[in-house]
Amino acid sequence: MRDHRRIDPRDRLIVALDLPTVAEAEEMVRRIGPAATFYKVGLQLLFAGGIDLVRRLTGEGKQVFIDAKFLDIPETVRKAVESVARLDATFLTLHADPRTCRAAIEGRGASSLKLLFVTVLTSVDPADLAREGYARDLGDLVLDRVQMVLDTGGDGVVASGAEAAAIRAKAGDRLLIVTPGIRPAGASVQDQKRVATPAGAIQAGADYLVVGRPVTAAADPRQAAEAIVDEIRTAVEKQ
Ligand code: C5P
Repeated sequence: MRDHRRIDPRDRLIVALDLPTVAEAEEMVRRIGPAATFYKVGLQLLFAGGIDLVRRLTGEGKQVFIDAKFLDIPETVRKAVESVARLDATFLTLHADPRTCRAAIEGRGASSLKLLFVTVLTSVDPADLAREGYARDLGDLVLDRVQMVLDTGGDGVVASGAEAAAIRAKAGDRLLIVTPGIRPAGASVQDQKRVATPAGAIQAGADYLVVGRPVTAAADPRQAAEAIVDEIRTAVEKQ
């Protein structure tokens, strides 16, 4: 269930630690200081000592989003989620497949780990879907999978700013929406194609924003994070 109204705007920014080594990630966390409380650790770092980093961050009171996008047979998913649940992370990503979703819910047991589902990867376009044998329209497939997450009891979805409003309209307050592809007005878009500003994503219904390079590649990461949090706060106040 979505409880965004009680979340401090500062806790709604998730900084993506897309860095090659734990040492660089730790240095980044140190530079950002109190400006961010929530970090995303993805596959690059998980396989380079990132699990210990997750433990250290949660031990320091930070929240951690483990972006591992699990998809496997139900028994493997269940056991893997049991292991993740022991790390005290806040979010874990999985692919939006019904058996994966049910197995993950079993695996997290009574832990507070929240399960977020990727509906359709943003790198997939309609031609890719057709080649993979899907006859569905991409937007419809996203909403079908959102329905599946609702039906099976997942906590939320990862969605771009462009999809967030339609998902919010369908799911109401029953799902968390976590939105990457965020670029403050005037920032470089880099390889992202469909970007939203922090305020635009909040207005579209996002609960949490995932921001990587606009913070980690900034000359002053702390100041960049503070500016995004200010923008989130102003957007929330207007809601
Ligand atoms: O540097 P940037 O802000 O583009 O980083 C965004 C982060 O969100 C990256 O870790 C990227 O893998 C992740 N992400 C994304 N688009 C998605 C899902 C995840 O950019 N649809």
